[in-house]
Amino acid sequence: MHPRDPIGPTPGEPVAGLDTPHLLVDLDAVDANLRVMFAGGRRYGVDVRVHFKSLKCTGLARYVAAAGADGFACAKLNEAEALADAGLTDVLLANQAVGPLKTRRAARLAARANLIVCADDPDNVRELAGAARGAGSTVGVLVEVDIGMNRCGVPAGPAVVELARLVASLPGLRFRGLQGYDGHLQMLPDAAERRAKSLAGCEQLVAARRLVEAAGLPVEIVTGGGTGTWDVVASVPGVTEIQPGSFVVMDAAYHQVRPEFACALSVRAGVVSRRPGAYVLDAGTKAISRDFGTPAVKARPGDRVVRTNEEHTIVEAAEPGPRPGEAVEVWPAHCCATVNLHRTLVAVRGGRVEAVWPIECSGRYD
Ligand SMILES: Cc1ncc(COP(=O)(O)O)c(C=O)c1O
Repeated sequence: MHPRDPIGPTPGEPVAGLDTPHLLVDLDAVDANLRVMFAGGRRYGVDVRVHFKSLKCTGLARYVAAAGADGFACAKLNEAEALADAGLTDVLLANQAVGPLKTRRAARLAARANLIVCADDPDNVRELAGAARGAGSTVGVLVEVDIGMNRCGVPAGPAVVELARLVASLPGLRFRGLQGYDGHLQMLPDAAERRAKSLAGCEQLVAARRLVEAAGLPVEIVTGGGTGTWDVVASVPGVTEIQPGSFVVMDAAYHQVRPEFACALSVRAGVVSRRPGAYVLDAGTKAISRDFGTPAVKARPGDRVVRTNEEHTIVEAAEPGPRPGEAVEVWPAHCCATVNLHRTLVAVRGGRVEAVWPIECSGRYD
């Protein structure tokens, strides 16, 4: 429980008695999601490095690690540090650490964790090497390859080899391999199109691997993929790991394209008002992210969220709607951004609270 939470839930308590709103995670649904993903990883012979940006909570990360995750990816250094603090020390910063402050921080973290960072720029690589030497640590580096997302990464081709050579030549750094992330494809609704485009991106990534190996540099790790493309990326020979995150808790938007994973994350919200055909909840955009679209009401498939304000959600009800004082659970459309709005995650199983975890990294962007 977050210290500011005045009426915190306690383990053993029935969910039906909890105050509203609260962010819940259903552990039975998480277990099922982890089973599907980890069995898939084994089937394809790849590691599953779980992206912590969707969890932001080390209690849940420990739970995922105990179920068999092959390490964690993260988006920001604060997440990598929180993981290391929790004893989860196999960490990929699936982004760049740039500038003197961030490179020093990464180098210091590498002294107590098996840290790998991504790089796509020679000056950044030199700065990172200097920071690592200053800290007396070794930072693992993946060269990030742009496989079509047009975000970070060098183009697949000779530039990858050049940067890999530079990394391998600098004391303080250890060249570990390549990352290519197909983020632009994750939510493509047409599965055949998603698959074809993802395979095309992976071909570029694996071709880059061959170029680097031909230059005499061993490539241990080739990583990419997310919840939307996990099985496609995992199936490509030459890829060694996948890095999905949302699949652990899922959301209403991702569930449309990857129905094999269940929605485990919900905001329990109380009904504060009712009129014919509609009811109003005590959780709005400050508790349920709208950046990926409209949330859905769990166990009431006929109901439709029609509006959200800061502190209210208005739902059109298939009659009869719930009454003021009752509560429903809402599946957010975007799990990562919703977790980021809360400070406490209530882990539930079979209608009871099993654990209450702080979400240490919510609201942090460093
Ligand atoms: C670099 C990187 N890898 C993997 C992911 C996978 O995330 P998800 O499984 O939530 O789609 C993301 C999501 O933003 C990402 O930025």
